[in-house]
Amino acid sequence: MNSEIESAFNEQLNAELFSSYLYLSMAAHFESQNLKGMAHWMRMQAQEENMHGMKFFDFINERGGKVTLAKIKEPKTEWSSPLDVFEDTCAHESKVTGLINGLVDLSLSEKDHASNGFLQWFVTEQVEEEATAQEIRDKLKLIGDSPVVLFMIDQELGQRPAPATGAANA
Ligand code: FEO
Repeated sequence: MNSEIESAFNEQLNAELFSSYLYLSMAAHFESQNLKGMAHWMRMQAQEENMHGMKFFDFINERGGKVTLAKIKEPKTEWSSPLDVFEDTCAHESKVTGLINGLVDLSLSEKDHASNGFLQWFVTEQVEEEATAQEIRDKLKLIGDSPVVLFMIDQELGQRPAPATGAANA
């Protein structure tokens, strides 16, 4: 892999680990609000982001590059409501989609077909990540300030299964 791709992939590894850290911070926030289902959902999301990071970690190594870990930015720690958290989740995933698209553009301009093939998994994954976050955000928008429905959504989000461990190598 050339040095430009290596550096960009290392940056994306850092961005995925930051995503994990951000969602873990959201999990901590929900724990503090006693919204256990939402806290669980965010904890699963944090695990998934860690797997995304590890995909970059493994790919950089497989292609003969060097993984260089950098400082992970401090995440936000306070939100005004569950809706505020999921608004941030949507905005964050949309930003990540932009980063992945930027890497796809780079792989094309560098004619790096292996990297391009690797990134296609992320292109598809981002469609799902954005759709899921938007669906939850839209539900939270609809309920207004109904505590009963908030309780039901919390129960529902608490059912999220753990991400498949095999996904790290998919
Ligand atoms: Fe790794 Fe949520 O994108």
